[in-house]
Amino acid sequence: MIHIAIFASGSGSNAENIARYFSKSETVKVAVVLSNNRNAGVHARMKKSGIPSFVFSREEFAAGGAVLAKLDEYDTDLIVLAGFMNKISAPLLEAYPGKIINIHPALLPKYGGKGMYGMHVHEAVVAAGEKETGITIHYVNEQYDEGTVIFQAKCPVLQSDTPEMVATKVHALEYAYYPKVIEDLLATFLS
Ligand code: GAR
Repeated sequence: MIHIAIFASGSGSNAENIARYFSKSETVKVAVVLSNNRNAGVHARMKKSGIPSFVFSREEFAAGGAVLAKLDEYDTDLIVLAGFMNKISAPLLEAYPGKIINIHPALLPKYGGKGMYGMHVHEAVVAAGEKETGITIHYVNEQYDEGTVIFQAKCPVLQSDTPEMVATKVHALEYAYYPKVIEDLLATFLS
């Protein structure tokens, strides 16, 4: 069995969608969720899904030790960031080389970098009058949103769209593609 650890800081709708997708799989499972936010909606969603979730401080994520021990406890093969708003520290990158991926709610390299997360991204896209936006799934490195791109998908932005409407379209792309891209990536682990 391949074990995924999801890192999430917020609502956790992607984490729940990924957990649901693999819930019937005989080869892949979401084993654990880690968060830097004890008030994050992801904890209630995971409770419903029967998946353990744990909270670590920003300092603990940066130092690595306790977080790495938890990942080890759950035999983690792949770390999937789903709305995780902390930088990934060097100890984690060293322990999981090429095994940490993220989803960003825009077409990187546009609208990436520090401070560009969640609704901030969609507000910037609308303010700039973009005609399209989308999602980027990429490997994580030491810079925000700069690792090698694995997959992108696009959706149109209409002149009448609000940031909330753009967020809904982008979330739909995330739900449709993130689990499948993870599955395809993990197939290369098995072969
Ligand atoms: C998602 O749209 C994800 O792409 C974004 O946060 C949202 C989390 O939603 N991530 C980033 O902005 C990372 N820079 P969720 O908690 O409902 O899955």
